[in-house]
Amino acid sequence: MPRYLLGIDVGTSGTKTVLVDEDGVVTDTAYVGYGIDTPMDDWAEQDPDAWVQAACDTINKVVSKSGISDQDIAGIGFSGQMHGTVCLDSNGDPLLPATIWADQRSAAEVEYICDNVGLENLARWTSNPIATGFQAATLLWLVRHRPEITDRIYTVLLPKDYVRYRLTGEIGTEASDASSTLLFDVARRRWSKDMLGALDLPQSWLPAVAESSDIAGELTDASAKSVGLRSGIPVMYGGADQPIAAVGNGVTQHGSAQSTIGTGGQIFLSLDWPLVDSQLRTHSFCHTAPDRWYLMAATLSAGLSLKWFREQVLQASHDLSYSDLSDEASAVAAGSEGLFFAPYLAGERTPHMDPHARGGFVGLTLRHSRAHMTRAIMEGVTYGLREGLEIMRGLGAEVNQVVASGGGARSPLWRQLQADILGCQVVTTNVAEQAGLGAALIAGVGVGVWSSIEEAASCGVVHSDPIDPDAERARFYDVQFGKYRLIYPALRSVIHPAA
Ligand code: XUL
Repeated sequence: MPRYLLGIDVGTSGTKTVLVDEDGVVTDTAYVGYGIDTPMDDWAEQDPDAWVQAACDTINKVVSKSGISDQDIAGIGFSGQMHGTVCLDSNGDPLLPATIWADQRSAAEVEYICDNVGLENLARWTSNPIATGFQAATLLWLVRHRPEITDRIYTVLLPKDYVRYRLTGEIGTEASDASSTLLFDVARRRWSKDMLGALDLPQSWLPAVAESSDIAGELTDASAKSVGLRSGIPVMYGGADQPIAAVGNGVTQHGSAQSTIGTGGQIFLSLDWPLVDSQLRTHSFCHTAPDRWYLMAATLSAGLSLKWFREQVLQASHDLSYSDLSDEASAVAAGSEGLFFAPYLAGERTPHMDPHARGGFVGLTLRHSRAHMTRAIMEGVTYGLREGLEIMRGLGAEVNQVVASGGGARSPLWRQLQADILGCQVVTTNVAEQAGLGAALIAGVGVGVWSSIEEAASCGVVHSDPIDPDAERARFYDVQFGKYRLIYPALRSVIHPAA
């Protein structure tokens, strides 16, 4: 009897569900989008039940599209947007909309945590820098501003854990997503009593912590009916979108790395032990296997910078696609004839951890055209990724290859720029739905289709031939990167409110 796995990726702009066979091949996909609500300027909220509805609809769609019998579905796994907060009352109902990772209302709480907990304790207790939208900051904000809500909290969940709870009736979380709350002791893979104590938050709010491929429960009768499947199908915990996408990219073994150019940009390095940047410029979180961790450099405006340029500046319609822009930019010489772009359109995480950072084109002349500006954006975003990679190299990591993913990896120019600027080989994979695939592969490990995450990844993921850096351009870009690094400190004194 063939066995299939479902991977549900509860993302920020929508939920995507993929069906994967036991050869690790994605056979069908379905997607339902939703928006982000911004009732106040710097708020970012979503309706947790919209995620549940999207999960149910996409499961329904994908299974009916495939024509398979639900008897052949061996398990279900999850990938989820990280950091967010869903507060439930004692009936298991959300007390208010979910506060998601992009929410910035907790700036004062982040400042409070930095001043009162301090970098040293943050590193020791949680291994991570704190940012707005992370659960620790959001909960502190709620305690300060909505005590009538926090008085009624029975439990607090991360986004995908809420969806899984609604499908299985079981409350819980797992280490990869728990580590993104900043209430978690990443090295010991358990809630941090020290951090909870310092913020005066009750541990009783937080669910028990398992590992990604553990079985969390099974589809209840009621949820089975609403997704059109049989009840009793095992549901695995799954994990946070970054490490789950890494599984879908085959980035599970120590020293393997991925770069993502989506809305944001990330450099991700898989590790056999927890490695912490004492200056807290990068994140150090739990990977999806109990003996794995990862370092992540996160930048905020990667693909978003090019989207901003295309939509806001060029006001382009479909007659000027991203692919057209990329082709045009390929004709410009490396270095964009002296034009630089600093991609801090929405503040920056790695390496500056500065919500007030602002972007800029630097070095404009009359010679510069749209193509130069496009290329400068692509180079600037890639310099930003290199900053993260340099921190990792400074911590002793040797990175000779990255698996490139996200929309940016579709551009041949951006792939070559990554090779030249990051100074390493670049490969891509055979699928676009890394997080959905990773979630399905993890589910397969949970029900014994594969014996380990490595085996699952090696079955489902095929890497392309590597793209090598061009030696001459790589030397040139080393020099340009040195110049790029001077831009943030210079800009800071112009645009920073504290300057
Ligand atoms: C990682 C991060 C994103 C979110 C949204 O730190 O913020 O990956 O999980 O997808």
